[in-house]
Amino acid sequence: MNLSHTQRDWFNSRHAREALATLDVAALPQHIAIIMDGNGRWAKKQGKPRLFGHKAGVASVREMIGSCVELHIAYLTIYSFSAENWNRPQDEVSGIMKLFVEVLAREIANLNRQNVRVKLIGKVDDLPQCTRDAFAECVQSTAANTGLTLVVALNYGARQDLCQAATTLAADAVAGTLDSADITPEMIASRLSTAGIPDPDLLIRTSGESRLSNFLLFEAAYTELYFTDILWPDFGRDALVDALREYQGRERRFGGLS
Ligand code: FPP
Repeated sequence: MNLSHTQRDWFNSRHAREALATLDVAALPQHIAIIMDGNGRWAKKQGKPRLFGHKAGVASVREMIGSCVELHIAYLTIYSFSAENWNRPQDEVSGIMKLFVEVLAREIANLNRQNVRVKLIGKVDDLPQCTRDAFAECVQSTAANTGLTLVVALNYGARQDLCQAATTLAADAVAGTLDSADITPEMIASRLSTAGIPDPDLLIRTSGESRLSNFLLFEAAYTELYFTDILWPDFGRDALVDALREYQGRERRFGGLS
């Protein structure tokens, strides 16, 4: 594996070197999905407003992108705003939407430098115009990149995504181009907003919660789940290596026998 400049810096830490030495780089997941939870609690612990936690969470996103690039992981999906997150206080929602715009303006050059391609999943059309524009610019600007694909889940809900897939299948059945008795899991997968993206191998959720919260319900059928008490803004490279080490210790049988 060729080591990037940042990777060399990280390798220069003895602790990181020791941690990485415990991994089989040939058996890393192809796709990591993350539920980035605990920003609010992290901020509260320091007596700060919740948005302070979201801003700190952006640094962890950056670190995960860099780590996945360095480790040659093909896909990283981050649950950035769920379809249910609109139920939060209005100032928190608008703060997160503005934060996206600020972060993208600052990070597009870095994403391109790291050869990262950004894709969106979810009902992006319902986001405020400035947030939509910022993400559209980011997707367009990184479209030709060939390294890590960063999938940003925005106004995403797995049940909602399954409903829109069912709607398109039903429309085809009504039009007579599809026999409803022939619907297969692959046909459903091809209508989801994650179509073309391999299922996640590893799903990480931070902050001590052990549930999927409407994230990738169809795609995560055989995904290894990893839950940690670490709050998202504290989740860094070493924590990722711990998750990868646990992943590599698991036996994946996909419903078959070992
Ligand atoms: C969950 O923590 C976090 C979110 C709903 C927002 C996550 C968004 C970011 C970290 C920004 C990502 C940036 C880009 C550019 C994609 P929480 O608020 O639910 O925490 P709590 O459970 O402690 O309240």
